[in-house]
Amino acid sequence: MRPPKDFFAPLAVGAPDPVREIPFRPSRMIHFFDPSNEKMRGKVPDMAREVDVLLGNLEDAVPTDRKETARAGLVEVARTADIGDTQLWTRVNSLDSPWVLDDLITLVTEVGDKLDVIMVPKVEGAADIHYVDQLLAQLEARAGLRRPLLVHAILETASGVANVEEIAGASPRMQGISLGPADLAASRRMKTTRVGGGHPGYLVRTDPSREDETGVHEGRTTYQQDLWHYTVSRMVDACAMHGILPYYGPFGDIRDVVGCEDQFRNAFLLGCVGAWSLHPKQITIAKKVFSPAPEDVAWARKVIAAMGDGTGTVMIDGKMQDDATVKQCRVVAELADELAARDRELAEAYDAATEKVMAE
Ligand code: GLV
Ligand code: MG
Repeated sequence: MRPPKDFFAPLAVGAPDPVREIPFRPSRMIHFFDPSNEKMRGKVPDMAREVDVLLGNLEDAVPTDRKETARAGLVEVARTADIGDTQLWTRVNSLDSPWVLDDLITLVTEVGDKLDVIMVPKVEGAADIHYVDQLLAQLEARAGLRRPLLVHAILETASGVANVEEIAGASPRMQGISLGPADLAASRRMKTTRVGGGHPGYLVRTDPSREDETGVHEGRTTYQQDLWHYTVSRMVDACAMHGILPYYGPFGDIRDVVGCEDQFRNAFLLGCVGAWSLHPKQITIAKKVFSPAPEDVAWARKVIAAMGDGTGTVMIDGKMQDDATVKQCRVVAELADELAARDRELAEAYDAATEKVMAE
């Protein structure tokens, strides 16, 4: 364990100073693309206009014989594509794979100044982050980088979940954590065969009525439960405790836009700031879900205005407001301001709704 006084010291001579605060930049959707696919690489500038984060994926979903092409493809994209102020992230191969060392060496030394965040899969504990932290510092020094790269962990092993708090606090580089429901299900030996989402067999059922005791079980309503509630909640707490950002990960059933929206919204309401998008349809869903609704923003702004210095209580529409509600409203209003700064349409919707609510 590094002593607190050294926590913000660079880990290699010549490496940039670590950040003291994780910048909140809109990241409602982390859009995955395969940089080994030339057609996909050509679409990068267009994709960049639609998303907050573009992620060049080098890990799962890229076949073994295309790993090196994917790495080289990402270097080419980072060097040549105009992506404006959209963030560029990558997901490198896992730390036990034969590719990760070259992924990190190549990307940091060749295009480290173009990348914002490195996503590390299958993180098991703080030791994995310490390894990446030190290596990145050495490579940043070699590349002469002025800005430290940030690290994002995927929560997709049972041991990662058991250690999520220490992972979140393992380095000042830690930017955030994503739920990785597919690998996590396998690691936990869950009996599902899907990527994210619920399962009709995981449910609660209303109690039997008196007749049911005689063997009739008709009319007992069932409700499907959320397989990910515990993990997402725990991840959100770990991230909030360390000032970093939590995300839902992938939702694999691209056609099930409704189920996807529900999962994303649950994560948003619990505290997540974004999710992965694997298809253009999911970009639209994430934009909708992870941008607070105009009515909620208008309400939040109204409460903040009515609460003055934030102390005491006021009644608005029969609902008590106090210190704690104004704090919740600030979360919503500040997020809205950050998103509005990047999205003119959203800014107009927020202002129009606010004007209406203030006039009531
Ligand atoms: C993502 O990588 C997952 O395994 O769900
Ligand atoms: Mg995975």
